[in-house]
Amino acid sequence: MPESKVYLPHERVTRGARINSIAEYQAMYEESVNDPEGFWAAQAEEMLEWKEKWDTTLEWDFEKPHVAWFKGGLTNASYNCLDRHANGPRRNKAAIIWESDSGRSKVYTYQSLLTKVCRFANVLKDHGIKKGDVVAIFMPMVPEVVTAMLACARIGAIHTVVFSGFSAQALRDRMQDSGAKAVITVDAGKRGGRVIPLKAMADEAMLECPTVKKCIVVSHSRATVDMQPERDFYYHEETRRRDISNDCEPEWVDAEHPLFILYTSGSTGKPKGVVHTTAGYLLGTALTTKYVFDIHDEDIYFCSADVGWITGHSYIVYGPLAIGATSLMFEGIPTYPNPGRFWEICEKHGVNQFYTAPTAIRSLMKSAPDAPNEYDLSCLRILGSVGEPINPEAWQWYYDVVGKGKCSVCDTWWQTESGAHMISNLPGCTPMKPGSASLPFFGVQPVILREDKTPADIGEEGRLCIKFPWPSMLRRMWGEDSEKRMMDNYFGQFPGHYFSGDGAVCDEDGFYWLKGRVDDVINVSGHRMSTAEVEAALNSYGDVAESAVVGYPHEIKGEGIYAYVVLNDGVEASDDLRKMIIGHVRKDIGPIAAPDFVHFVPDLPKTRSGKIMRRIVRKIAAGETDKEGFGDLSTLVDPSIVDTIIETRPNQ
Ligand code: PRX
Repeated sequence: MPESKVYLPHERVTRGARINSIAEYQAMYEESVNDPEGFWAAQAEEMLEWKEKWDTTLEWDFEKPHVAWFKGGLTNASYNCLDRHANGPRRNKAAIIWESDSGRSKVYTYQSLLTKVCRFANVLKDHGIKKGDVVAIFMPMVPEVVTAMLACARIGAIHTVVFSGFSAQALRDRMQDSGAKAVITVDAGKRGGRVIPLKAMADEAMLECPTVKKCIVVSHSRATVDMQPERDFYYHEETRRRDISNDCEPEWVDAEHPLFILYTSGSTGKPKGVVHTTAGYLLGTALTTKYVFDIHDEDIYFCSADVGWITGHSYIVYGPLAIGATSLMFEGIPTYPNPGRFWEICEKHGVNQFYTAPTAIRSLMKSAPDAPNEYDLSCLRILGSVGEPINPEAWQWYYDVVGKGKCSVCDTWWQTESGAHMISNLPGCTPMKPGSASLPFFGVQPVILREDKTPADIGEEGRLCIKFPWPSMLRRMWGEDSEKRMMDNYFGQFPGHYFSGDGAVCDEDGFYWLKGRVDDVINVSGHRMSTAEVEAALNSYGDVAESAVVGYPHEIKGEGIYAYVVLNDGVEASDDLRKMIIGHVRKDIGPIAAPDFVHFVPDLPKTRSGKIMRRIVRKIAAGETDKEGFGDLSTLVDPSIVDTIIETRPNQ
């Protein structure tokens, strides 16, 4: 744990903040953990509208595991995000500001978004989609992706958004696993001036997805696409049909009705479908948006994530819209047409809260360190960070150069599974220590445990676990054997606790310092990647006998992907083969999974029981060459392989 500087929130952030003294935070936190049911019940009354109130606030048993919040209550996420604002004083307020790749912007008010959502919800119903059906959404950052998500929620359909940077195969796998009945996509996406043929990829995926009966295509790039009669329909034609009404009564669903499935990587090769339910998720995202970003009614809030990830779900769509905020979404990338793009958007729209990932901060800090000075960023008040630990240098640049020392940097630790922020400073009250996510959010009860399950001491690194349920937590895994998979992945390692997969330390002030994943998950540019998943893709290439994938420290990405590859007998290693193998992974999973390094090796260091000794390949990937630090090698079948691997390591 580094000796850290401490920064107090600036007076211009504190003034007017919802919580502006640490004593106030502490009092509310105490209340939230001393009487969690009372706390969350009061928040659920205040933050959400209910058609019918719940019977039981909380049912839980982490040994099973089973968790349910607000059971028996009837509500609807789309109603909470739209109607209650559109039917009140926020009717003409901007709900979504959309900034295109080429620099155009469009504004959707609460009223206009509600109408779009209702019309599209009616289209979905007309195409046979009903409550409980799964709808895949394979779309880039176009405004219709928000409409699609909320239209599903309106009719009780369960959406599963698949990141548009994934491959056709990855889409196919997710549609097969979820049993999707329909897919919503665009003709082609545009990012950084490039055109990505998403409809053609969806066509390829649908060849092996018999459950998908309908495909709705948003015409975004005027690209020519194949349209299969009876199956494929254009969004604009369907939503403009004269028999489609502007009104759509929301489907009132139980609080525990699934809102969406989001696939994420775990320790195994197959992505897991994490299920989030309606009321608890919405409450968690709404409350954190309110307090962590301290959004006030006149603010403009900009989250640069993609809706294909949990950050986009929770903090572009559901959280901000649930509290009636203005959420700015951006189609493009931070470096196109130049590395001032984020700052230009902040100036153009007068952004007050900006939320991005450390990898973007590091890349902009490196490529254009002075660019923020060329723009008027005086509206900024809160700078959020998410996805990986933020290194103190990046924190400092974000704070000094982007924030001019007058903004609070909020380092938010959370996960796909947590649904909402778990550990973060509150901008108006928490002292900031660069590199620490700081203190738990209301109702969150973290504990750091040793491997032997006893509590770690102050300052001692251990496994970050949570000992009490929170409303926005995942409920189950989509598909069969959910309970077993929940145990295997999250609740089995430390009985009675949810295990996050992260290592962490708590300091003497109660501040949490995240240390990265302790399982076989790597974090590449804030994207979660399973090493087993990349290995499975590598191994499916004809010339590859076996492989081992590990992360290694990368200046911009946080972690890079390092692949050790053993070729089949008789196959010659070459640069061309390396490129073909990387291309194969891109096609199998998507460009984000492409290895930065492919290191051809004659064999892998294996124990007599056939297990790859991962700590060794990890150390070599990180550039360590001194075998002294490698620990005991005597259990290896062939210890000499370690020297061979060190000697053949390519230069970075
Ligand atoms: O390792 C932690 C890291 O990202 C993981 C969760 O990844 P994902 O489910 O894709 O969600 C990313 C967006 C919430 C965590 O297990 N992580 C996320 N935020 C932070 C972080 N690590 C350190 N500090 C953070 N602020």
